[in-house]
Amino acid sequence: MSQPNSVRIVEVGPRDGLQNEKAIVPTATKIELIDRLSATGLRSIEATSFVSPKWIPQLADAAEVFTGIARRDGIRYPVLVPNLQGYERARAAGADEVAVFAAASEAFSRKNINASIDESLERFAPVLERAQADGVRVRGYVSTVLGCPYQGDVPLTDVVRVAAHLHRAGCYEISLGDTIGIGTPRKAAAMLAAVAADVPMDALAIHFHDTRGQALANILACLELGVAVIDAAVSGTGGCPYAKGASGNVASEDVVYMLEGMGIATGVDLPKLIETGQWLAAQLGRETGSKVGKAAA
Ligand code: HMG
Ligand code: MG
Repeated sequence: MSQPNSVRIVEVGPRDGLQNEKAIVPTATKIELIDRLSATGLRSIEATSFVSPKWIPQLADAAEVFTGIARRDGIRYPVLVPNLQGYERARAAGADEVAVFAAASEAFSRKNINASIDESLERFAPVLERAQADGVRVRGYVSTVLGCPYQGDVPLTDVVRVAAHLHRAGCYEISLGDTIGIGTPRKAAAMLAAVAADVPMDALAIHFHDTRGQALANILACLELGVAVIDAAVSGTGGCPYAKGASGNVASEDVVYMLEGMGIATGVDLPKLIETGQWLAAQLGRETGSKVGKAAA
């Protein structure tokens, strides 16, 4: 398969980006971030996370954020939910798309959600059932697809098993996460190809953290296999507090710049996205994590 003509960017900055911030970001700033992103042409913006506030205090204001944003027609605003309790909170706030998250590594699964992989898949079953009955779309994440901070190598068979399970269970899209940014292009492509043998490519997304500067190269390798959905975070924020050494997601600005330069349409207004990334960096009191954002400053 050859590279796609267009790509949907799933902007995860408000969730994956902010969940890793140590200082609590004001609710109004989170809302303004999402509203600014909504004006850039992005079609999917992961807004927040209804996980336990004891585990991620930064996103304890998920309901206030979700009810405070100005949702626009044509934009999806998925939210992360770890269990039925999170699903109910998300629905009460008005969410109509959720994301469940499992890991390919047993060790990371226990650290991140205090459950084995199989226990977590069982926990998602009632969420998926309820979502189906409610007409709610569910996205599924598989973490640690190219390596784990606790276990080291993660067998491809485990990645494929978890991804295929989530897809069969009703997730419309499976996002494959290199949580700690450890992968390199050939490994990333081999991982995607292995999953694509069991799950259709048009139901797959890639989610690369840029810890070691490999994210764009990994994305390019995967684009060549035909993947057309890419997760990214404005200003390159992000990481998982339960994944030792994890740092920022690939910056959305950098992904859009690369794709548009390759003639792949994203529908995103790059100058507006860059401006949003620079605004966010100023709110967080540091330089933007986007190379394209820095070049434009
Ligand atoms: P637990 O402590 O085993 O569960 O946590 P519990 O059921 O015993 O609950 C403990 C307390 O939390 C209870 O309160 C529950 O009511 C409450 P208490 O009785 O002590 O007062 N609770 C909740 N409160 C609000 N909303 C909820 C909820 N659930 C329980 N939904 C649990 C298990 C799964 C809840 C916890 O481990 C958790 O929330 N983990 C989330 C960790 C997380 O968010 N990590 C980052 C996201 S994953 C990621 O970043 C990777 C990704 O980006 C892809 C990639 O990069 O690879 C997606
Ligand atoms: Mg992530």
